[in-house]
This record gives sequence, C-alpha cells and structure tokens, in this order.
Amino acid sequence: MADEVTVQKARFSDRVRIRSILGRPDGGAGLAGQKVRISGWVKTGREQGKGAFAFLEVNDGSCPANLQVMVDASVSDLSKLVATGTCVTVDGCLKIPPEGKGTKQKVELSVVEVVDVGTVDTATYPIPKTKLTLERLREFPHLRSRTNSISAIARIRHALAIATHTFFDEEGFLYIQTPIITTSDCEGAGEMFQVTTLISHTEKLERDLIENPPPTEADVEAARLIVKARGEAVAHLKSAKASKETITASVAELNEAKASLSRTEERSKLKPGLPKLDGKIDYTQDFFGRQAFLTVSGQLQVETYACGLSDVYTFGPTFRAENSHTSRHLAEFWMVEPELAFADLEDDMNCAEAYVRYMCKWLLEKRYDDMELMAKNFDKGCIDRLKLVASTPFGRLTYTKAIELLEEAVGKGKEFVNPVEWGIDLASEHERYLTEVVFQKPLIVYNYPKGIKAFYMRLNDDGKTVAAMDVLVPKVGELIGGSQREERIDVIMERIEEMGLPVEPYEWYLDLRRYGTAKHSGFGLGFERMVLFATGMDNIRDVIPFPRYPGRADL
Ligand code: 4AD
Ligand code: MG
Repeated sequence: MADEVTVQKARFSDRVRIRSILGRPDGGAGLAGQKVRISGWVKTGREQGKGAFAFLEVNDGSCPANLQVMVDASVSDLSKLVATGTCVTVDGCLKIPPEGKGTKQKVELSVVEVVDVGTVDTATYPIPKTKLTLERLREFPHLRSRTNSISAIARIRHALAIATHTFFDEEGFLYIQTPIITTSDCEGAGEMFQVTTLISHTEKLERDLIENPPPTEADVEAARLIVKARGEAVAHLKSAKASKETITASVAELNEAKASLSRTEERSKLKPGLPKLDGKIDYTQDFFGRQAFLTVSGQLQVETYACGLSDVYTFGPTFRAENSHTSRHLAEFWMVEPELAFADLEDDMNCAEAYVRYMCKWLLEKRYDDMELMAKNFDKGCIDRLKLVASTPFGRLTYTKAIELLEEAVGKGKEFVNPVEWGIDLASEHERYLTEVVFQKPLIVYNYPKGIKAFYMRLNDDGKTVAAMDVLVPKVGELIGGSQREERIDVIMERIEEMGLPVEPYEWYLDLRRYGTAKHSGFGLGFERMVLFATGMDNIRDVIPFPRYPGRADL
C-alpha cells in the first residue's frame, strides 16, 4: 500500500488516532509536516533543557506504540503535563526527529497548543511509571486498561472476537443470541448460579414487618366487626326506605370496610422468611414463577435453531459456580458455540480446527504489533506458536489411544498426580503432557467413555464411548469441548434416565428428536482460554476485563 500523505482523522472526534500515524508502513515519516490533534494519556514525561521543554510519551490505546510529543515551555506549564497518567489533547506539527537521539520513532509531534489537560494526583495515582505485577494490577480493574499489557490483551481479544464473527459469517453460519437466564442445566453438572428475587423480596418484607408489624388476630376481628356493623347499617337504611343518596353513601362505606378487612387479613398472613410450600421453597412466587439460573452454555438453545436454520453459532457469557481457584477457570467466561446440522463428529473436528487456525492467522495479520509486545513481555514463543498452529494440521487420536500413551509414559517413569486408567476424566496435567510433550502441537482427543460425558453426546456403536471431542492446546490444556449430538429419541431418553436427570426440563429438547430429527454436532470454545493460548499469558484473570472468581467480583 502506498503511503498516503494526508492523515486520517478519527471520524467521530476531531483527533487523529496514534495508530493512524505510527501504524503506517513508514512509521508515520511520510506525514512529516502535517498538522494534527492527538489525545491520550502520558506514559512517561520528562522536562529537559532546565525546564525549557518537555518530552511526553503519549498513548491513546489504538496501538501499543506511544507517540513522542515535544512541548516547549512557551506553550504550556510543563509541570502540569509530565506526570504519568495525565490526559492531554494537543495540536501540533508532525516532524522527523533529529538523528542520533537514539529514538526508534520515525516521527514525533511538536506541540503548538495544549488544548486540554486532565491532571493526575501523583501522590495517590496507583499505576506508577514502574511496572506493577499483573496480580497487583488486578486490584485496579478500573485503571488497568492504561497499562501496555492489559491494553494489548484488550486489542487481541477484540481481534479474536471479530475473527470469530468473520469466520462463521464466511462459512454461512448465523449468529444466534441464546438466553443468559435459563431454566435448564445444559451440562447437568449442577454448577449453576441461581437467579432469584425471592431473597431481596424477603429481606424487604422482613424490614417492613419490623417497621409496620402485621395486624394481630384482634385487629382482624375488629375489622370484621366494622364490616358487620356497616352491613347492618345498610340493611337498616334500606328497610327504613332512606333516600337513595344516603343508601349509596352507606354502601360505599361498607365496601371500604370490606377492602380494609381484606388488606388486614392479607397482611396478617405475612411471615418473615422465604415462602414455603410443603417444607420446600415455593418458587411459584419467584420472579419467573419457577427456579431460574444463569446459563452454563447456550448449546441446548442454539440446537433448536440449528434444527431449523442448519448452521448457527452463539457467542456470549456463560457462568459456572464451580469453586475453582485455578489459572484456567473463571466463574464468568465467554463461549463460542457453533452448532452444525447434518454434520458428524469428524465434520465437527474439521470445523473446530479450521476455526482455531483461522484465528491464529488473523492475529498474525491484524495484530502483529500487539503480539510482538506479548512476545517481548510475557512469552517469547507466542508468535511462533501462532505460526505453527496456523500452518500445521492438529493431531487426532481416540481417548483409548491417549490413555495408552499416558500409560506408556508412566511405564517410562513419568509421574502424574492423578492416576491413569481407562475411564478417568483426563486431568489438566494429562492433557498438557499429551499436547506439550508428546505432540507439541494442538490435538483432538475423541470418543470418550460415556460415563464422564454429558447426556446429549451421541452413543457410539460400542455402547461404551460417546462421539465427544476435546481440542487440547499447549499452555492451556482443554480449549474446546464438543460432540456429535444424540439424535435418536429412544437412546437419549435412556441416557437421561441412566444419568438420573429429570426428563421434564428437557421435554422441549427431546421434541427436536421427536419432530424431524437431524444428525448434528457442535462444540464450545472457551474464549478466554483462546486468549491465553494466543498471548501466552499465565492467568485467565488477566485476559478478561473484569474477572469473576470465588471471592471476587469487582465493579
Ligand atoms: O467443555 P465444556 O463444558 O462444553 C460445553 O459447555 C458444551 N455445552 C459446549 C458445546 O458443545 N456447545 O466447555 C467448553 C469450553 C471448555 O473447553 C473450556 O475451554 C471453556 O469452555 N470453559 C471454561 N473457561 C473458563 N472458565 C471455566 N470455568 C470454564 N469451563 C469451561
Ligand atoms: Mg469440557
């Protein structure tokens, strides 16, 4: 692309994004002489020449690079500008920096006017010039986007999300929004967060009952007596042939007394505590008239659209109330879940592999600068890993073969914390050994024992395994879990029973098998695990803007 000499302005503000300057193939040199307005936050600032001028490194989040900005003391009070974290909007002229200054920048900005300044209280600003650990940064989720690492991850996350939508759109999949509040447990694992207004309503009621104690039986009796007396008054007026107006007024008083009685009776029944029926909590009084939860997966719902629109996917937040404190688990994470009609397990694996490889290529093409930052600061090998994954087919092996390989390793002296035998759920250490040591690339393990997998996975002809597949990747372990779905009504009914799950909540799901059943398959990719894999970050809490895990839900 030939470098254009006019600078591209942000369309919805009067500034130029720093990426539009420094992100050009010529590093911005071709723009020398142009007048621009830029805005951003000062990373570092220093006064020089005995206070005659200042250099500011300014970043606006559009790219990892900072623009070097030079301000003369005749233009502004420099002491207000140099503190890390200060926000500046400045007008200036782009210039080629004088040679021999040791700067890598192809262009810098010589300021003509300081348009706006958001100052910083340096005594209390928690994000200093010196690097904080990622762990410490988690204490400031509202400010950590100012740092190089967290902002690079945010851009990478964005790129992966756009790559996801682009990939599925190009392949003819429709994006379906599945519910966040749900009444069925997809994984049947009982790890759901409950959604209820019963608790807050009960608390409010209990406060109210203290402030306005409920009517006693004597109050109810008194209200009853008023109704009785007013009823008699009406009867008396009628028999005395009183005027129509007098009777109407008396009936109105009677009706009012009746309404008051019914209110008194109603309130006298109010009791502190959750509403109960037969000793259990009465969810018919809850917001939805039944028990509801945050979804653990949009799969079951997106299947209903696959069995009508063929190829679909959902991409949304999912929630799991598992008490995991690992660097791979969050209580709130995002999942990409495609569902392919008329596709078997192999089609499913092909789709998963193509999708992951597409994302790796996308990052190399669109966010190389951010990947360079990750390679420099966190994981030297992350760019090579993306290149490898983008260009190499994944390994594929059955669960049975995987167990054999692990047993072989144990035979040769490899020690695992969790014992290896056919039938176990592979632990993270097993998964990582297979992908990092044995294969040294992503691999897909398929045909798992039915006993460790969900009810909806298709039973294989051996009666022992299901058509499940997990994609395992170096650094992370399980990135994707998926399967061919059981489309045979009798087999799935048997599986639900076998697993001791209630049938009623799944009736609608079974209808998909009763009416025009179709072979179909799908998978779920943990979006944060993909960001971990791509960036080489160690902790999943640093690759989502607002991490939620046991004991922590800031902001
Ligand atoms: O393997 P899982 O549990 O599969 C499902 O939920 C299926 N219903 C998906 C489908 O077939 N549509 O979860 C899918 C992926 C995992 O492979 C993992 O990457 C991620 O979701 N995951 C988590 N990521 C972060 N924190 C957690 N607590 C996670 N649990 C699962
Ligand atoms: Mg899984």
